[in-house]
Amino acid sequence: MSSNTIKIVAFAGSSRQASANAGLIRAAQELAKAYPNVEFEVVTELIGQLPLYDSDLETAKGFTGPVKKLREAIRSADALLIATPEYNYSLPGPLKNAIDWASRPDDATYSSFPTFDKPVAIMGAGGAMGTSRAQYHLRQVGVYLNWHFVNKPEVNVNLWGGKQITDAEGEVVDEPTREQIKSLLEALIQWTGRLSAGKATSTKALKDWSKEELKAALKEQKKKEREEKKSLRKP
Ligand SMILES: Cc1cc2nc3c(=O)[nH]c(=O)nc-3n(C[C@H](O)[C@H](O)[C@H](O)COP(=O)(O)O)c2cc1C
Repeated sequence: MSSNTIKIVAFAGSSRQASANAGLIRAAQELAKAYPNVEFEVVTELIGQLPLYDSDLETAKGFTGPVKKLREAIRSADALLIATPEYNYSLPGPLKNAIDWASRPDDATYSSFPTFDKPVAIMGAGGAMGTSRAQYHLRQVGVYLNWHFVNKPEVNVNLWGGKQITDAEGEVVDEPTREQIKSLLEALIQWTGRLSAGKATSTKALKDWSKEELKAALKEQKKKEREEKKSLRKP
């Protein structure tokens, strides 16, 4: 996180032309423009370009083309936003494949990983359960990657409830759905700020702090939270 700017890298787990999940990500991209401190990059198009993960391929070619692009985009992210479809009660293969490629260490020393330790928000559009089962599987996948998920709000969009959510191109046309995406985006921005403030203070073990230092740190944290909330308000 460079000073006050948060970079969010976002993608959907569907490469389908009129994907509703890609539409959710585009809606988030549009909504993110209201936050001057947020940089928003969408990399959905890379998901369908990745080869199927195979460690022989990794050994022979390393990380090239779309694999490299995805890994570098994720490395540069302060936070991730993912929209997952639900396939057979789980996350779809292309999304899992993308996460598998991105999860690999940079080299045989296993000392650096582009994907680890990120704040992550998830949402999804699908059948009546609004991809909730896929989202829970995605949370499980994130455990090894040390992803720190936003818990609430849960954005479970039901495409089959008789209400038009997206148009023929997959653009979100339903206002309550846009509102939910906006709330999730705000929660991700706040969560990223909180985690980043925590990282800055955790360099010294808490037990070594004097009472005065603790008091000052808490005061500073509260001040940051107030500033964060202020900066979230539309200009
Ligand atoms: C192989 C397959 C399995 C599916 N399984 C589920 C499912 O378990 N739950 C669900 O809600 N929708 C399921 N669907 C329907 C998808 O939710 C729907 O196709 C959705 O629009 C896909 O997301 P997209 O529009 O972003 O591509 C399935 C679709 C396919 C092709």
